Amino acid sequence: MSLLVTGAAGFIGSNYITNYLASIKEKVIGLDKLTYAGNLENLKELEGDENFIFIKGDINNSNLIADILIAHEPRAVINFAAETHVDRSIDSPDTFIQTNIVGTYRLLEEVRFFYNELSDENKKNFRFLHVSTDEVYGTLSVTDSAFKECKKYEPNSPYSASKASSDHLVRAWHQTYGLPVLTTNCSNNYGPYHFPEKLIPLSILSALKNQNIPIYGDGKQVRDWLYVVDHCKGISTVLNKGVVGETYNIGGRNEKTNLEVVTTLCNLLDELKPRDDGKSYCEQITFVKDRQGHDRRYAIDTSKISNELGWKPEETFASGIRKTVQWYLDNQEWVNHVQSGEYHNWLTKNYS
Ligand code: NAD
Ligand code: TYD
Repeated sequence: MSLLVTGAAGFIGSNYITNYLASIKEKVIGLDKLTYAGNLENLKELEGDENFIFIKGDINNSNLIADILIAHEPRAVINFAAETHVDRSIDSPDTFIQTNIVGTYRLLEEVRFFYNELSDENKKNFRFLHVSTDEVYGTLSVTDSAFKECKKYEPNSPYSASKASSDHLVRAWHQTYGLPVLTTNCSNNYGPYHFPEKLIPLSILSALKNQNIPIYGDGKQVRDWLYVVDHCKGISTVLNKGVVGETYNIGGRNEKTNLEVVTTLCNLLDELKPRDDGKSYCEQITFVKDRQGHDRRYAIDTSKISNELGWKPEETFASGIRKTVQWYLDNQEWVNHVQSGEYHNWLTKNYS
């Protein structure tokens, strides 16, 4: 028995494997291309764990995927591998098309060939779980009801359009070829190992460096925030109990404006690591040019996964965000390593 996890060295993939192996003794093969967002330091806790194997590779590499499937015979594939930063997708969409669409297609094909050769018993237990986002549904107004699984796909950014395309491919591989797939559409995650170009880690680290904390537009855009470990537990719940061919929305029921999130972070830092001059970190909040095509609001209706599979988040926003700020304060070495030249180039390009 083993699991193949793609995008293993990214934010959610690494949290997933580390949390999984903390309680379950099963072989996990982690595959990752190690793009700028992939970092083996995210998997440091697994050093010496004989149940974990890391392979550097691309989901577009069909031969490699075929070899891994034959060698390790996984009972499931969990696909986290993706290009994930909306702003980067606006700046240069090509890699999003190559990885999120073409890569998912290539992975699906190799998994289909492998699945076709399995015994009837192994076919019954096999799953392909595709990790996706709520951004495929598009944007909501303040009064709209939260996204249900039946909501029409209306992606607005190159990132969300590429993820929407991959979701459709996954669905088609089930309908056409009978591949036993599951898809999860989750809201914004936060927690340890979040790459510092995303809102929460960027704000914490900019605050600590005495730099401007950039808020796009009026800061009133709403996101639903979920602690990453709760997302990982939701994925395992869907993998173990989900109905093949179904999609499940996962969310935190924590709708916050970006300004509320950043103010909360500043207040926590004021308490945990006050500024030398005694002033609040809120003074560093700076409104900057809005993102093109910026979605106004995301909100997730979690009734399907709660009622049918019994999952609900364990962390509140207050407890999860405190843990997160403390983690960034305690892990300055990780932060220093991750802030590579490529990361600096991005900051200069996006915020200059
Ligand atoms: P991330 O950018 O931190 O990690 C993605 C990982 O995929 C990186 O380690 C990267 O090296 C790897 N990768 C990229 N291209 C690859 C390729 N061609 N082959 C193999 N590996 C490749 O992203 P994340 O936040 O961990 O997101 C993981 C998944 O969860 C994505 O599919 C994303 O769409 C989805 N998701 C993320 C969030 C969120 O808030 N972060 C919310 C909902 C869904
Ligand atoms: P982000 O973390 O990039 O996630 P996503 O775009 O996938 O939701 O952004 C979260 C929200 O924060 C989004 O509304 C854009 C906003 N944002 C800022 O206001 N300033 C920033 O510097 C960044 C990176 C994001």
